Amino acid sequence: MTAETQFDSVQAYLDSGLRDNWYPVLSSWEVSSNPVGITRLGQQIVVWRDRDGQLHALEDRCPHRGARLSLGWNLGDRVACWYHGVEVDGQGEVKDVPAVDRCPLVGQKCLRSYPIQEAHGAVFVWFGVLAGDEPPALSFPEELADGEQYSHFLCTAAWKCNYQYALENVMDPMHGSYLHSASHSMAEGDRKADMLLEPTENGFMFRKSGQMGVNFDWVEYGHTGAAWLRLSIPYRKRFGPGGHFWIIGMVVPEDNDNCRVFFWRIRRVQGWQRDMWRFMYRNRLEQLHWDVLEQDRIVLENLAPQARDHEYLYQHDVGLSRLRRMMQKEAKQHLARINAAATENRQ
Ligand code: FES
Ligand SMILES: [Fe+2]
Repeated sequence: MTAETQFDSVQAYLDSGLRDNWYPVLSSWEVSSNPVGITRLGQQIVVWRDRDGQLHALEDRCPHRGARLSLGWNLGDRVACWYHGVEVDGQGEVKDVPAVDRCPLVGQKCLRSYPIQEAHGAVFVWFGVLAGDEPPALSFPEELADGEQYSHFLCTAAWKCNYQYALENVMDPMHGSYLHSASHSMAEGDRKADMLLEPTENGFMFRKSGQMGVNFDWVEYGHTGAAWLRLSIPYRKRFGPGGHFWIIGMVVPEDNDNCRVFFWRIRRVQGWQRDMWRFMYRNRLEQLHWDVLEQDRIVLENLAPQARDHEYLYQHDVGLSRLRRMMQKEAKQHLARINAAATENRQ
């Protein structure tokens, strides 16, 4: 399949996952010594740690006859295919074909390798638009980057919906007052609001014009190598120290109909208050948060088929409309590059 025929529209490309992005693909604890096979942006990838703990990500396809390398063995500095034992290193180069002497496959780079790094308890993989593109630097909002001031828990879940719906759900603060109205943190405040958009350093903020600091009143979209969403929810005193509860969210597409959400749940706490908050979170709050997240998952997994094609948007949907336009603009640029490269290859 050529790059040109792979996507027949901008929306088809977007549905599969916007490239030129770092995406969280797994939480750190999910990758130990065994190779892990995942599908992200429709691509099958094997992730593994070498004997030094260094992460590697390769196309999950043995160069010999296509067995999934994630079914194979970790040999410390390479992985070995389960089927006939071919050995491949972290750059995708064949190191040994144990079944034959002097095999010409040895020394060849046969597989695509992906830039990979670990941060804040998650494994990030970079997806370029074209082979040979270089990844940008990856940085994070201060609530994650400043580990002295803030403390977090990462929660991740697989949702059976396209990743854009998961992103748009967070770009829609008003749903907090309805879908989550019975929750521990979103029972307060107006159920009607005027909303406005404001530019920020790395993206834009979408917020209620009258009410701040009562409910899920604002959300910010930002891009710093990866796309993230930031919001805060005020907490009553009985939920312990730390004031506002911060959430940084990211979403990675698995394929057109599935995604993985990553939510870092954060409070600004230090010293004994941090210990107390971490204890309390595990014992009292975590289950409440899973309950809220389940409400989102149930609604999104049960949206009408092709929901996006039959919407009547109103003023509260300006935030998600803005995000759609930004993503479409970027997608058009990517597709133009993909098509230009495909044309060049044919000449
Ligand atoms: S398919 Fe992997 S070694 Fe044959
Ligand atoms: Fe929600």
